[in-house]
Amino acid sequence: MITHSNNALRITDVGSAVRLKGFVQKRRDLGNLVFIDLRDQEGITQLAFDADNDLRNIASAIKNEYVLEVEGVVRERSSKNPQLSTGDIEIDVKKITVLNTAKQPPMLIQDETDALEDTRLKYRYLDLRRPYLNKMMRLRHAMAQAVRGFLNNEGFIEFETPILTKSTPEGARDYVVPSRIHPFEFYALPQSPQIFKQLLMVAGFEKYYQIAKCFRDEDLRSDRQPEFTQIDIELSFTSQEEVINVSERMIKHVMKEVKGIELTQPFKVITYDQALNDYGTDKPDTRFDMKLHNLNALFSNTEFKVFKHIIETQGSVLGINVKGQADNFSRKDIDGYQDYLKRFGLKGLSFLKFTNDSVSGSIAKFMQDDEIEALKERFTIENGDIVFMVASDHDSARKGLGALRTRLGKALNLTSKDEYDFTWVIDWPMFEYDVETKRYYALHHPFTRVQDRDKSRLIDEPDQVRAYCYDLVVQGQELGGGSMRIHEALMQNSVFNILGIDKASQEEKFGFLLEALQYGAPPHGGIAFGFDRFVMLLGQTENIRDVIAFPKTSSAQCLLTDAPSPIDKAQLEELKLKQ
Ligand code: AMO
Repeated sequence: MITHSNNALRITDVGSAVRLKGFVQKRRDLGNLVFIDLRDQEGITQLAFDADNDLRNIASAIKNEYVLEVEGVVRERSSKNPQLSTGDIEIDVKKITVLNTAKQPPMLIQDETDALEDTRLKYRYLDLRRPYLNKMMRLRHAMAQAVRGFLNNEGFIEFETPILTKSTPEGARDYVVPSRIHPFEFYALPQSPQIFKQLLMVAGFEKYYQIAKCFRDEDLRSDRQPEFTQIDIELSFTSQEEVINVSERMIKHVMKEVKGIELTQPFKVITYDQALNDYGTDKPDTRFDMKLHNLNALFSNTEFKVFKHIIETQGSVLGINVKGQADNFSRKDIDGYQDYLKRFGLKGLSFLKFTNDSVSGSIAKFMQDDEIEALKERFTIENGDIVFMVASDHDSARKGLGALRTRLGKALNLTSKDEYDFTWVIDWPMFEYDVETKRYYALHHPFTRVQDRDKSRLIDEPDQVRAYCYDLVVQGQELGGGSMRIHEALMQNSVFNILGIDKASQEEKFGFLLEALQYGAPPHGGIAFGFDRFVMLLGQTENIRDVIAFPKTSSAQCLLTDAPSPIDKAQLEELKLKQ
């Protein structure tokens, strides 16, 4: 048994006999004096072996990451280390046991490591020894406990739902598992527990939660993993207001309990249309203003051919004012942003600089005086402002300028990781039409309830129908999303029909749900939060791999275990995947 952790001893402990265990962080051999930094999950304590210490020779042979047990006496250090909480003391070692040796690690095991991410993932157990990741894993644990504490206290029941199951459509590809007993039949891993949590409401449970593993075969990004965790919640006899309220209180509780952060409630609420019009995205970063403005009316008599043409062809001219930054953009910067906008189908980026009471910029020569005056009023222009404008079809213009706004916010340091701008985006359209495949898709998922005021338009104008659907956005990221659900089988049939799922497929894929809805399904609704993303938010990291113990690479591999990997011929034969 140890007497102390390696983060426990202070100047007041001088003279105490102690027993410590840990890994060797570093050995410094000063000839007649040897120091070892001993590390455990709590911190570091310095071990000292003086010139007259018989153990000095043993200490000299010790290498990084050896595992030691030592006994000794705490003494005051001659040269103190204010960076370390144990920096006033050291251990005069009287007994040392090498519990295990270690090979030379392939990476520096400290926060500022020299290793490439691939090496860190291959040797994840060494990577996880770094204090930074250790801190992240503990943060994750503390947050999971705080979530459970809150929901238990509110009367929610924690469930587990199957991992080997049937496809649950959340918009990604399924991971599938072949069945040995039923050749050529497959389980799908759940993209979310969506249908099961609804069935639990049909089963009469009124408040469900699960910290649930979800699996989605989709393109990965810095905030996406193929296997991730949701805080999944469902309530029956509920309303959008209640789900929003309980979610806010849960988030407030976790942030207070784990980080001491006080949030004000209620959170901001904006509609989906407002989000797209003002910010050009359904995940607005509201930590800074710089809203999008539609300038079609302002340029209705423009002589600038590009804008004129776009306005005549029902497109949009949109602009943002970057306040006080006119001198901070070089031509090269602007060309760079113009290139960036190409990926949104935008051909150009126009700008006007307002400096020294005059106007310059790429389209200054096409501007009429009244247009300049109108722009000044519209954007409350002051000297030093720069207005960027794009012109294109409405959707591309909004998306492109919205993305540029987000990028500028980061580049100009207008955002702080300490500002938590939680915002609900509500009133989503139920469907989205895809011109390529010529069919409707559910913007959230097919189990989402249509708003009562739009029910009559469902068949004839599906694209005008809004849903009881809400996303929670923070710092420009989607943290969670949910909806009220369809609880009548006929309505569920209608929505499947609009989505182009024919009767036979409805029966085959969702027959069990359609049937369940006919046995007195209560009105219900819920939400799921990306738990990994929530940990990223409080851990202030942009890399989802920092908050997952054993994450996958961006090409969905586990470098540690080398998964995915081929399986034996015998296994393939057993599964009838090979003759
Ligand atoms: P949705 O698909 O919006 O909703 O997912 C909910 C939240 O899960 C997180 N998330 C992810 N996190 C990491 N990696 C991924 N690949 C990934 N995909 C999603 C996001 C997202 O907001 N069943 C519905 C919820 C409901 O209606 O109750 C659902 O899964 O933070």
